[in-house]
Amino acid sequence: MPTKPSAPTAPLVRAVEEHDHEAVHAILTSRSVIAGTMRLPYAALHTTKERLSPDPGVHRLVAEVDGTVAGFAELITSPGHPRAAHVGDLNMLCVHPDHEGRGVGRALLDAVLELADDWLSLTRLSLVVFADNPRAARLYERYGFEHEGVMRRLNRSRGTDVDGLMMARLRD
Ligand SMILES: CC(C)(COP(=O)(O)OP(=O)(O)OC[C@H]1O[C@@H](n2cnc3c(N)ncnc32)[C@H](O)[C@@H]1OP(=O)(O)O)[C@@H](O)C(=O)NCCC(=O)NCCS
Repeated sequence: MPTKPSAPTAPLVRAVEEHDHEAVHAILTSRSVIAGTMRLPYAALHTTKERLSPDPGVHRLVAEVDGTVAGFAELITSPGHPRAAHVGDLNMLCVHPDHEGRGVGRALLDAVLELADDWLSLTRLSLVVFADNPRAARLYERYGFEHEGVMRRLNRSRGTDVDGLMMARLRD
């Protein structure tokens, strides 16, 4: 009798550790992540290490699939600004191209929203997604992010100016 294919392993989401820096660098310098963000190609490893250095209010997560770091997310809060203590910004959500389309982005977003809602009690979560990235925008819409406005010609992508779509998710 043929054996049943085993179910894909669910991503494990955890905090970024120092030993993840090279894996996160590989994600941040991949072509699809450069296309979907404001990053420049050819970033050196030390720039990623600097970016990942501890910073109060910045929450960084990775998603592991079968022991490999497959995705990265960064939530920025403002603990030093009491009047914005309820606000968070999803500054980065990205998945290595080898792992796209397998639920890694969703697993990271689930974890970020749990952190924001249940632990940090944030009531406003914002992000910017580029107009040439409808797949990411749809993902955010499905998680309750609503369109708030357009930042015209915010990002240059392969010689073309692309609008930034401002989105936010508000909780009572
Ligand atoms: C956007 C991104 C984070 C999504 O992560 P992912 O792990 O590939 O997505 P998931 O597998 O969790 O799927 C999320 C949704 O996208 C859809 N999707 C996944 N792969 C897809 C593909 N190749 N084409 C179209 N839709 C796709 C899934 O159907 C899923 O929808 P569902 O919730 O209705 O099932 C990832 O593609 C990425 O890192 N892109 C490059 C960087 C980027 O653009 N980041 C966003 C910056 S704002």
